[in-house]
Amino acid sequence: MENKKILVLKGDGVGPEIIDCALEVLNVISQKSGIIFNLIFGDIGGAAIDKHGGPFPKETERKLQDVSAVLLGAVGGPKWDNIDPAIRPEKGLLALRKALGVYANLRPCQIYPGLIENSPLKPEYLKNVDFVIVRELVGGIYFGKRDTFVENGLRTAFDEERYDEEEIKRIAVYAFETAMGRSKKLTLVDKANVLDSSKLWREVVGEIALDYPQVELEYLYVDNAAMQLIRQPSSFDVILTNNIFGDILSDEASQIAGSIGLLPSASLGANIGLYEPIHGSAPDIAGQNIANPLATILSLAMLLRYSFGLQKEAEQIEQAVTKVLADGYRTKDLAQHEFLGTREITDEVIKRL
Ligand code: IPM
Ligand code: MG
Repeated sequence: MENKKILVLKGDGVGPEIIDCALEVLNVISQKSGIIFNLIFGDIGGAAIDKHGGPFPKETERKLQDVSAVLLGAVGGPKWDNIDPAIRPEKGLLALRKALGVYANLRPCQIYPGLIENSPLKPEYLKNVDFVIVRELVGGIYFGKRDTFVENGLRTAFDEERYDEEEIKRIAVYAFETAMGRSKKLTLVDKANVLDSSKLWREVVGEIALDYPQVELEYLYVDNAAMQLIRQPSSFDVILTNNIFGDILSDEASQIAGSIGLLPSASLGANIGLYEPIHGSAPDIAGQNIANPLATILSLAMLLRYSFGLQKEAEQIEQAVTKVLADGYRTKDLAQHEFLGTREITDEVIKRL
C-alpha cells in the first residue's frame, strides 16, 4: 500500500498534548482501514527556538521535502515574549505557511446539536449556521514591509498591507470553487470604503465572478461583517477575505460555535497541505489535561480528506466527534459542570470510531 507521509509539528503550550490525541485517533483509523501512515516529527515555534536557535529551523524545512501533509499543534508562549521579534515563535508558523505556499486557509464553522447552550447567541440565531471562512494566508499585512524607528523625535512604526492581482485571483478562484460545492453564496469581506488594497480585491473578485454566474456574490465591509456574523450568522456560506480580517473573524466565528477549541483548519493551494486548530498554544492550561483536543482531531479529519482523499475516514472522525458531543461529553471549555480531560474525551471519540 502507498506510503502516506505526514510531518508532525507539536509546537508549544497545549500543542504536544492535543497532537498526541490526534495521533491516537490516526492510529485507530490506520488499524481499522489497514492504511499505513508514516509519521516524521519536527520542531517549530518556541520549542524550536530553544533547541535550534530559531522558530523554523532548516532541519524542519528539509523535512517538508518528502511529506504530503503537515499536522501542527500551536506555537508561542510567555517564555518567548521578550525575544527579538524577528525570531518570535509565531514567525516560525508564518515562515512555514510561506514556505509551503498554502495560500487558501479554510476555517469551517458549524453548530453541533448538543452545543446550542454553549453559544453566547440565542438559539433562534443558530439555526442553519454552517459557513466556511476562506482566508488568504500567505500575503497582506502579515508579510508586508514593516519597520520601527524614531522620526521627528517620535517612536514610529508601520506595517504594509499589499496584494497584487495574482494573489487575489488565486484565492478568489479557490473561494468560488468552494462556493460551487456548497450553497453557492460568496461574501467578500473587505474595507473598500477606506483601503486601496480592498478596492483591488473588489475589482479582481468581480472579474472572477463572471466565470461563476451561478454563485451569488455579496460585498460586506469588515465592520459590518463582524456585526452580521452575530446578528444573522446563518446568512453566510463562504466568506472570502484577506489574511488579517480572516484571522479576526475566525476567532469571532468560534464563539458562535461555542468554543475556540472546536474549530479546525486546512491550509491548501500547494502540494503539501497544512492542518492546525485555529486556536493558540494556551500556555496557561498546558500540561493539565484540560485542553480541548477536538479542533485538532477535526483538523486531522481535514488532513485525511484533502491530502489523501480519504473521505470515508474523514467522515468517520467527524461523526465520532459529533456523537461524543451529542452524547453530552464536554471538555472544560464547554462544561457548565462536569467535564472530561483531554485524553478522556479522546477515548470517547475512539470508542465511537
Ligand atoms: C491563527 C493564529 C496565527 C495567525 C498566529 C499564531 C500567528 O492566530 O492561525 O489564527 O495570526 O495567523
Ligand atoms: Mg488567529
